[in-house]
Amino acid sequence: MKADEVKKVGVLGAGIMGSGIVEVCAKAGIDVTFVEVDEERREHGLQAVERSMARAVERGKLDRSDRDEAMARITGSTDIADVADSDLVMEAVTEDLPTKIEVFAHLDELTRPEVVLATNTSSLPIAELAAITKRPDKVLGLHFFNPPPVMKLLEVVRALTTSDETVDFARAFAVRLGKTPVLSKDRAGFIVNFLLIPYLNSAVRMLDENFATREDIDAGVKLGLGHPMGPLELLDLIGLDTALQVSGVLYDEFKDPIYAAPTLLKRMVAAGYLGRKSGKGFYDYEKQ
Ligand code: CAA
Repeated sequence: MKADEVKKVGVLGAGIMGSGIVEVCAKAGIDVTFVEVDEERREHGLQAVERSMARAVERGKLDRSDRDEAMARITGSTDIADVADSDLVMEAVTEDLPTKIEVFAHLDELTRPEVVLATNTSSLPIAELAAITKRPDKVLGLHFFNPPPVMKLLEVVRALTTSDETVDFARAFAVRLGKTPVLSKDRAGFIVNFLLIPYLNSAVRMLDENFATREDIDAGVKLGLGHPMGPLELLDLIGLDTALQVSGVLYDEFKDPIYAAPTLLKRMVAAGYLGRKSGKGFYDYEKQ
């Protein structure tokens, strides 16, 4: 199948990343069915898409009529069988290998054998997800960045078994979504997190050592390097639990102390300070 022939996409998981991916696909004119584990999370996913599109309308990025058309293309479900007739499925469930393996085994049974199955994992081995299926040549990573409707990058991650045809399809699909694809090997962190995680962890260590205040660390990076957010603000956006999980995977893969999670990050996650999504991280927020 060609990327411009994709009419329906299935998205598994409608958390921060899944709901953003749903929005990006619907705005590109593609029907999307997303699946969540229960009614409450399904509703939460739909509300997240509505809120984000409302912000896009407010900022003049989206017409009201385009917003309405995009919303009409989205169906939320709690039954994975509803993605069975999709032309492409993207998985964005919790960042846990056994959970993702179970999802891929299920998707392999449900969908047509020629359908590409993609994972939005930011660090887990895609080879293991491919190996669980009968179509290892059609499995790859499509790693979006947070927030998916705004960030222009899409990392296309090629596992050892992924075919050239699947990679070409994924690159063309990225362009159809208005994203710029970059190609990475299936190695923990891919391109961006391999660079980002040691930097974020260094900022947490600086704060923990009282080297500088949170405001000064963030201002230093914003004003001195021109980043839109400082590292502590960015950790709050990504989610401290996600950053901790990615650090752990990178450390396991490379055994290099620059990837080891700082103690303060671990303690904050243990305390439930997860960033924006929990209402408190390095800064305070209204709970989303
Ligand atoms: N829909 C469409 N466009 C939107 C939008 C929405 N919901 N929200 C904001 N925008 C647009 C704005 O219109 C604006 O566009 P212009 O520059 O063309 O005017 C742009 O996004 C920035 O918006 P604002 O200046 O109003 O600032 P904001 O506070 O709303 O922006 C932000 C928020 C986009 C998150 C910005 O701060 C930013 O880019 N931060 C860095 C994010 C980042 O680094 N993400 C990567 C995380 S790492 C990751 O994801 C990898 C992983 O696996 C852990």
